[in-house]
Amino acid sequence: MSVAADLVDHYGGNELLSKIQTGLHKMGLSAETVDVDVLAPVDEFHVGGRAATTELCERLGVEAETAMLDIGCGIGGTARFLASRFGCDVTGLDLAPKYVSVAGELTAMTGLSERARFEVGSALDMPFDDGDFDGAVQLHVGMNIEDKQALCGEVFRVLRAGGRFGLYDLMRTSEAPLVYPVPWAANASMSFVDDQTTYTDALGAAGFEVEQVRNRRDYAIRFFDAIRKNAAGGDGTPPLGLHLILGQEASTKIANMVSAISAGTIAPIEIICRKPG
Ligand SMILES: C[S@@+](CC[C@H](N)C(=O)[O-])C[C@H]1O[C@@H](n2cnc3c(N)ncnc32)[C@H](O)[C@@H]1O
Repeated sequence: MSVAADLVDHYGGNELLSKIQTGLHKMGLSAETVDVDVLAPVDEFHVGGRAATTELCERLGVEAETAMLDIGCGIGGTARFLASRFGCDVTGLDLAPKYVSVAGELTAMTGLSERARFEVGSALDMPFDDGDFDGAVQLHVGMNIEDKQALCGEVFRVLRAGGRFGLYDLMRTSEAPLVYPVPWAANASMSFVDDQTTYTDALGAAGFEVEQVRNRRDYAIRFFDAIRKNAAGGDGTPPLGLHLILGQEASTKIANMVSAISAGTIAPIEIICRKPG
């Protein structure tokens, strides 16, 4: 199988919508009463969840009613946040057809279908014209993409001159081996975690001006500590959470990622850059 097919298989998504609906039901909510914030524990599939998305978007300087692209959108949490918080017109693109389908369903439930739409496709060959977007985000996707130069070149192509790109990925901070599975990969064949310099070099080669780089390791450690404390004081698994999307071996995938961050092997790093013009 190709890496793309392996990734679609890894991310899965079988019965995901009905699992989310069951979670909502347990919370006393339904498709009619759900909102964007209620979904955040399950639809923000990256370290730091909604809080990390909010910070990235604010630092990116997202402007109201602009055309935004969410690359590797998953089930659309960030896209719905951009649509509801900033009134953006958002397009989400993802390799996984089941995620794209769930993204569309959740967006309809939250009444945002006119502002956010989702397409199946690859970040390396986007089905968009040159300059289609005012801005773009990518959260925890680059770990699945080997050719960072091709990725950055494609993002550069679909942004208008002056548009900003904010990315937030797990990057290598040492050469120590990773232990699998992790949330983004079942094994090393689908994992391409690169260091910050690989990203900034690829962005520069594409033509971007890198404006800000921020290592979020300490923030991630505080985030995981808070989750551990809540779990210890709470009454079991919450109705909505990343366990629904992570599927089999959810706790092993998370534990391996948290160990790698704690050991200094990887860190979530945010980069904001701009297409000159
Ligand atoms: C860890 S999830 C993050 C999802 C979402 N960005 C979020 O933060 O909630 C990674 C996502 O990237 C998608 N992905 C991986 N490689 C891709 C590619 N080459 N093109 C488009 N999407 C890709 C996967 O299908 C998956 O939905």
